[in-house]
Amino acid sequence: MKKVEFLYLSQEDIISLQLGWDVIIKQVELANSEFVQNTVECPPKRGVHTRPDCFIHEMPVYLKTMDACGIKWVSGYPNNYKYDLPQIAGIQVINDPETGIPVCVMDCRWFTGVRTAAATAITMKYCAKSDSRKIAIIGAGVQGRMHLLAIKHVLPSIEECHIYDIKPNMVNFYIKTMTEKTDCEIIPFNSVKEAVQDVDIIVTCTQRLHAPIIDAEDFKPGMTGAGLEAGRAWSAELLHSVKKIITDDLEQTLGYQSSPGSFPGGMPEFYCQLGELINGTKPGRENDTEQILAFNIGFAAEDISLGQYVYETAKKKGIGSMLTLMEEEI
Ligand SMILES: NC(=O)c1ccc[n+]([C@@H]2O[C@H](COP(=O)([O-])OP(=O)(O)OC[C@H]3O[C@@H](n4cnc5c(N)ncnc54)[C@H](O)[C@@H]3O)[C@@H](O)[C@H]2O)c1
Repeated sequence: MKKVEFLYLSQEDIISLQLGWDVIIKQVELANSEFVQNTVECPPKRGVHTRPDCFIHEMPVYLKTMDACGIKWVSGYPNNYKYDLPQIAGIQVINDPETGIPVCVMDCRWFTGVRTAAATAITMKYCAKSDSRKIAIIGAGVQGRMHLLAIKHVLPSIEECHIYDIKPNMVNFYIKTMTEKTDCEIIPFNSVKEAVQDVDIIVTCTQRLHAPIIDAEDFKPGMTGAGLEAGRAWSAELLHSVKKIITDDLEQTLGYQSSPGSFPGGMPEFYCQLGELINGTKPGRENDTEQILAFNIGFAAEDISLGQYVYETAKKKGIGSMLTLMEEEI
């Protein structure tokens, strides 16, 4: 029997490929487009919960059209800052669809960071006003940074970013890094309420919240919003008055019905899935006054669509380390 080896890619190996937002957004669009055509085997996330408010999720997927297969094993531990560790961490595995053999094991943090922001950016491309100038980002962590970069990529008209975080050191780091990476003016605020006044787009990317932070009166006609906390950041009144609410995976999102604090006031009515906007079967924004909200939960099809691309690119460029899985028959 042949020796079996796989390619190992650390976060730094992946970053060294210097993939741009065009590529990232394209792979995430392909995944969402395929998903709504029902050519994706993608069971809803299951998880184990070793501590309160924490999870480790398994996310297997097979994209038939792309012929890409793999699994993501990702943890979310909001108190990890106490140990100087990231909130989100994990690995993903790419399998050969012909033999099932694992061909690549890679860090998943970069994928989580960029594909989540890419899904929001795609939503904004279809739903935000095309001349949007101001964005409010609530939560200055990884997603807060990635979201500004990805959204600015699809909406170059964005020139002002209002930032708020409960931790002042996060705001300072945000201002420093985002000023280096974009030409946006980054303006810090002392409260959520002040930060979201007079903007075109609001993104909440905080941690597991125990009460909503965006009230109905804050979300004005014409605004587009996105929340990464399974609806927790947005008030019940707001969730149940907005007419267009989008999600990437409706079945998985509806599964949050039983999760305490998610979607205050019960599940809102969803307008469509993200792939339908991409495939043109549902229109995004239709006038300058409608309010549109998105709750993209994130699914493995996005990680593995991008993961397959990263694996092939790294192989071509000779990046990463080959590790032995087995030498010979036992
Ligand atoms: N939908 C998805 O696909 C997806 C993917 C990745 C992460 N997430 C979620 O996105 C959120 C952000 O993830 P991250 O990796 O950027 O985390 P992170 O820890 O890097 O950043 C979160 C930031 O939010 C701040 N924060 C916490 N509570 C706040 C509040 N009430 N007001 C303002 N700021 C507050 C924290 O101080 C921190 O700086 C998490 O809830 C995570 O679970 C969702």
